[in-house]
Amino acid sequence: MSSSSEPTPQPAPIGFAPPYIDEATIAAVERVLRSGWITTGPETASFEHDLARYAGADRVVCGGSWTGLAGVILDWFGVGPGDEVILPAYTYCATANVVLHRGATPVLVDLPAKSGQDGLNITWAQIEPLLTARTKVIMPVDIGGWPVPCAAWKANLMRWAASHGFTSDHPVQAQLGRPLLLSDAAHSLGATIDGAPVGRQADITVFSFHAVKNLTTAEGGAAALSLPAAFDAEAVYRTLRSHCLHGQSKDAAAKFNSAGSAAWRYDVTHPGFKCNMTDIQAAMGRVALERYPDDLAHRRALADRYDAGLAAINAVQRPQREDDGRRSADHLYIIRLSAHGQPYRDALMEALGAQGISTNVHFPPLPLLTAYADRGYDIADVPHAVAAFDTAISLPIHRHMDVADVDRVVAALSAALEALNLPPTS
Ligand SMILES: Cc1ncc(COP(=O)(O)O)c(C=O)c1O
Repeated sequence: MSSSSEPTPQPAPIGFAPPYIDEATIAAVERVLRSGWITTGPETASFEHDLARYAGADRVVCGGSWTGLAGVILDWFGVGPGDEVILPAYTYCATANVVLHRGATPVLVDLPAKSGQDGLNITWAQIEPLLTARTKVIMPVDIGGWPVPCAAWKANLMRWAASHGFTSDHPVQAQLGRPLLLSDAAHSLGATIDGAPVGRQADITVFSFHAVKNLTTAEGGAAALSLPAAFDAEAVYRTLRSHCLHGQSKDAAAKFNSAGSAAWRYDVTHPGFKCNMTDIQAAMGRVALERYPDDLAHRRALADRYDAGLAAINAVQRPQREDDGRRSADHLYIIRLSAHGQPYRDALMEALGAQGISTNVHFPPLPLLTAYADRGYDIADVPHAVAAFDTAISLPIHRHMDVADVDRVVAALSAALEALNLPPTS
């Protein structure tokens, strides 16, 4: 018999982005572990082909992380001291760090004045005035999974390069004849533009498979190549892949599979990095990719439920998820508080935390962080990114949740807003 002094059972906590590891993933990893081949090999090759098909790309190269691959691509394109790479201030540090690692200069772009109109993405209108002869790469970020219209950006870049007589003494840049459009699609695998998957529109699109991403291999990433026809996709693939493995002319699998006593022989054509993907990671990725349409549909159902539940709450601005051409990958569900700043944001997060609901903030604008402030980036130059950061909360959205969990988050948010004396409903 229950007594009135017994505590009421608490609902299970809702984590922010726990990975979804199903039995098929465990079986695939076990199969690779038992196979005798665990580093880059047949599983990685298959995953690369599966991804190229999914993303509509000419070729995909997998690597140990987004960061490793983006760095390798900047090196291939000859980015170094004196070069500029245009990227948003409102992003994760990796986007800028890979540029700093090459001794090049990140040119940070604020969010547009009316941020929210195009999700939390930068726009072409902001980019064009910043283009100079030193601009080697433009690196937009699909924040939260909302895709930047890269096909249109590419056409704009071509027009700009033609009218400015863009030249380069680096052979790869000279072949392209304009700055490279390198999409940071860490959040947007599965997003679409005019029905086409992200992966087809930019010159190169880089995905992240980090543990919190929609599709995870624990750590990992993939670069989808969709370069102009003048480039041999297979040759670029081989170059990037060897750059992910010290610049070796043969990887371990190629040596193993070569016949004869000279099978071990290899050359190192340039001092590459070490950021290859293992077959263990690729096995996880292949299972997750096969399941991915279901995972995306699940995310969409949760995001639709958030949209419906939050529609009546005036104090909350919902994320951009769909327009007449684009569809988000719903990686993050970032709400913004319409008229209230950081103290309210933090109090709301605390109130949700007290209900067992984990939330997060994406992203502190880069100049707010010591590494960039120390390099002279000034937070006063990015007021719209600051305004977004001050009012943003990422609500949990993942495969372990169902619509009842979304309802619980919405109810807790509504109650917390009321308790804080903000206008909770219309
Ligand atoms: C926008 C963005 N770019 C790049 C990265 C880096 O990805 P990785 O951890 O795979 O290097 C992340 C990771 O969270 C990210 O959010």
